[in-house]
Amino acid sequence: MLEKVGEFMGKLAKLVTAGAMVLFIMLSGCETGQENTERSAMISSNEPTLQAAGNEIVPARSIVVGFSQLGSESDWRRANTRSIQEAAKETGIQLILENAEQSQEKQFEAIRAFVKQKVDVIAIAPVVEKGWEPILREVKQVGIPVIITDRLVEVSDPSLYVSYIGSDFYEEGRMAGKYVMDKLLHAEGPIGIVELKGTEGSTPSLSRGKGFHDVIKQNPNLQVVESEYANFTVEQGNKVMRELLERRSKEIRVLFAHNDDMALGAIEAIEAYGLKPGKDIVIVSVDGTRKAFERMVAGNINSVVECNPLLGPYLMQAVKEMLDGRTLPKRIVTPERIFTEVTAHNELNNRMY
Ligand code: AHR
Repeated sequence: MLEKVGEFMGKLAKLVTAGAMVLFIMLSGCETGQENTERSAMISSNEPTLQAAGNEIVPARSIVVGFSQLGSESDWRRANTRSIQEAAKETGIQLILENAEQSQEKQFEAIRAFVKQKVDVIAIAPVVEKGWEPILREVKQVGIPVIITDRLVEVSDPSLYVSYIGSDFYEEGRMAGKYVMDKLLHAEGPIGIVELKGTEGSTPSLSRGKGFHDVIKQNPNLQVVESEYANFTVEQGNKVMRELLERRSKEIRVLFAHNDDMALGAIEAIEAYGLKPGKDIVIVSVDGTRKAFERMVAGNINSVVECNPLLGPYLMQAVKEMLDGRTLPKRIVTPERIFTEVTAHNELNNRMY
């Protein structure tokens, strides 16, 4: 008998809680803008709210973000993925992450899968700039908002995505160019420069290259003698640098690598060739990874321009604000600095990636 009473009381308690939730949801149906914001904030908090479904109490559906990551080619990329996963966890957002392994086709497949899964937001780190218009139109038709992160897409219709969150790659290239200009201001010319470019057609490769060239062309002594793609990887950086040294060792006095991984690969090639990286060849790269800082402290890299991969908190905040009905800026650009062999040791222990 007592058991039966206990069972009944348990059911009653569930019904009362469910009734209260239904009343809350109904009341918030005739809400002001402010109440609307509060409800969205609740749904996206770490503690999922409860909803009434018949007599059952089930957790409310949290925000679901489908994220198409372009690959895992570098330390920067792996830090970027971790940052997005951790920020999603911290904000109670459910993340569906797909790694496209450098294939735009795979990114399209992932995006179509996110549409089928009816995610709330699609985030894309696009491997290259061109070719996105048709797939973004498909997504727009079903009404899922898109945020572009890290690299850019080139589209004729800017309404195909809500916002871009990432770096100013052109400015990164300019900072690298200015460093080379200053460092070699009084050096006798001609000064041969080799450039290791990232992935062909990707924003960081296009824009860093342009920024760098726009600056160094002011000094006619600075001449880019070779410019080759090495896909942002250590292996390719090493291989391409070996080939460049075979062809041009006498002329090369500067290496501009579009990322740290390629610079690290190139350093090994330079050492194997019997030259001193950072002394015989001035080296400038981009990203600011811990490994690059260690090489800078050792005097093997002269300068590193920071590119911030820790975009997770920016992305999750943008997702929440957008779903709360706020208007996002079209470009959200992260602040970045340049470091040199002189200042590197002060910063080494602060590097997060
Ligand atoms: O798009 C950012 C670039 O991609 C980073 O510089 C590089 O390391 C990464 O692979």
